Amino acid sequence: MAEDLSIIKGNKTEQYESLVPQIKGLLDGEPDLIANLANITGALKEQFGWFWVGFYLVKENELVLGPFQGPVACTRIRKGRGVCGTSWEKAETIIVPDVEKFPGHIACSSLSKSEIVVPLIRDNKVVAVLDIDSDEYDQFDTNDQLYLQEIVDLVHF
Ligand code: SME
Repeated sequence: MAEDLSIIKGNKTEQYESLVPQIKGLLDGEPDLIANLANITGALKEQFGWFWVGFYLVKENELVLGPFQGPVACTRIRKGRGVCGTSWEKAETIIVPDVEKFPGHIACSSLSKSEIVVPLIRDNKVVAVLDIDSDEYDQFDTNDQLYLQEIVDLVHF
């Protein structure tokens, strides 16, 4: 496995198309969950430069902060709270173009302007969520959802 990452310029689809096989390579043969989640956050942050990229893991009926890249963040989120807790409760991806307009949004940083949260579902249960924040409005759409879903599907829990 190569530990270096090739960062490309181009539109978002081109960036994802370059990144997904590299993430596959990073995860290939590595069984450790935390190592794999950590490398996914590193790869996404390096390629896209988003403000915050991280995982929250379901632990004893709370989301608990896992591997991330970016500023320090809230450590625990309850089901139904914020964008992450809502994604967990509904077991679906949530795209928020303007975080100030999302009722109950948890502002770990006032610099965060838009957000996408993708749940990781195993055996019909949400086991974690991938949370990505941008410091610009309206940065995520269903194209991000598709590729990010493909990326989180690579993770073995
Ligand atoms: N904004 C999230 C909380 C996590 S931070 O963005 C890292 C939410 O509303 O769930």
